[in-house]
Amino acid sequence: MAHRIAVIAGDGIGTEVMPEGIRALEATAKRFNIDLEFTTFEFGSCDYYLEHGKMLPDDWFEQLKGFDALFYGAVGWPEKVPDHISLWGSLLQFRRQFDQYINLRPCKLMPGIKSPLAGRAPGDIDFYVVRENTEGEYSSIGGKMFEGTEREIVIQETVMSRTGVDRVLKYAFDLAQTRPRKKLTSATKSNGISITMPYWDERVAEMAKQYPEIAVDKFHIDILTANFVLHPDWFDVVVGSNLFGDILSDLGPACTGTIGIAPSANINPEGKFPSLFEPVHGSAPDIAGKGIANPIGQIWSGAMMLEHLGHKEAADAMVEAIEAVLGEGDSQVLTRDVGGQGTTVSLGNAIAERIGG
Ligand code: NAI
Ligand code: MG
Repeated sequence: MAHRIAVIAGDGIGTEVMPEGIRALEATAKRFNIDLEFTTFEFGSCDYYLEHGKMLPDDWFEQLKGFDALFYGAVGWPEKVPDHISLWGSLLQFRRQFDQYINLRPCKLMPGIKSPLAGRAPGDIDFYVVRENTEGEYSSIGGKMFEGTEREIVIQETVMSRTGVDRVLKYAFDLAQTRPRKKLTSATKSNGISITMPYWDERVAEMAKQYPEIAVDKFHIDILTANFVLHPDWFDVVVGSNLFGDILSDLGPACTGTIGIAPSANINPEGKFPSLFEPVHGSAPDIAGKGIANPIGQIWSGAMMLEHLGHKEAADAMVEAIEAVLGEGDSQVLTRDVGGQGTTVSLGNAIAERIGG
C-alpha cells in the first residue's frame, strides 16, 4: 500500500529545497520498491496568508489527518507576515493538534563538515536529542496580577503529567534500544527545581527498570550543556523536558556544523495522527531565490520520514548517500555553506544519483 505524504514547502528556501527532498525520496522509493504518493498543499506559507488572511484553511485538520506523514519545508517571511502569526498559524498547530509529542533531532558529524568543536572527526559525534514537545515548562498556566504597579507579579507554571513524561521517556528508551551503544542520558535540574525535576528523575528510574540492557545516566542541564561541547562523544540518546530539550536540540546540531544539513522530526509515535518531518533551518530570506540553499536538511528529514514509516534500510541508504557526497567534497557539487560553489540542484542531484546506486 502506498504511503501518502502531504507536502508543504512553505516559504523562501523551503520552496527550493523541497523539490530536492522529493527527488531523493523518489530515487530511494525506486531502489527499495517503496510506494510513495505525494500530495502538495499551498497553505502553510506567507503567500497563502496574504491571499486568504490566514495561514491554513479552516478544514486543514480534516484535509491532513488521513496522511501517513507531513513533509514540511520552512515557514516564515517576516517582511510579509510577523513570525508569531506564520509559525503559530501553521507549524505549531500541526505539532499540537496532531499530538506530535516527540521532537527528534539527530546530531551527527558528517564527513567534510568542519565541527566548530576543535579536533572532532566524523564518528566522534553521533547522538539523538529527544525533546518533550507538548507540556513541561511551555505551559499557558499562570498569570499576571497588579499589572503596572509596584506589586506586579507574573507566574508561569511547569506542567508535567505522568502520561506526558512517561511517553517521551518510553520513546527515548525504545530509541536507545535500537542503537549499538544502548545508552540514555537524561537532562535534569533536580538540585534547583525541587518538585518537577525530581519527579522527572523518578520516572526515568522507573522506566529504566523495564530496559535492563540500557545504560542510563543523568546530568544537570548546566553541566550537560558544557559536556555537549567538551565531550560530545559521551552521548547516544539524550532525553529532556520541553525547555531543556529545546536548548539541547539547538546546541547538539550546532556542534555538528552547518544549519543547512540538520534534520528534525515531530512525531506522534502511535501513528494516531501524521508525524511531521522538516529541516531545522528556516526560510532563510537572505539567500532565498538564489538557488544556493543546502538541500541536505530537507533530504535527511525525508530519510527520517522513511524510517518512521518502517523503511530503516532505505533511510540508512539515504544518509549513506549524503555522507558519501559530502565526503567526496566536490566543490562543483557542494553548496557554499559547506565550502563549494554548487547549487541546491547540483547537490540534490548528486545525492539522488548516489541513492540510485
Ligand atoms: P534561518 O534558519 O532561516 O537562517 C539562518 C541563517 O542560516 C541564514 O543566514 C541562512 O542563510 C542560513 N541558512 C539556513 N538554512 C540554510 C541552508 N539550507 N543552506 C544554507 N544556508 C542556510 O533562520 P532565520 O533567519 O532566523 O529565520 C528566517 C525565517 O525562518 C523566519 O521567518 C523564522 O521565523 C523562520 N524559521 C522557521 C523555522 C521552521 O519552519 N521550522 C525554523 C527557524 C526559523
Ligand atoms: Mg524547522
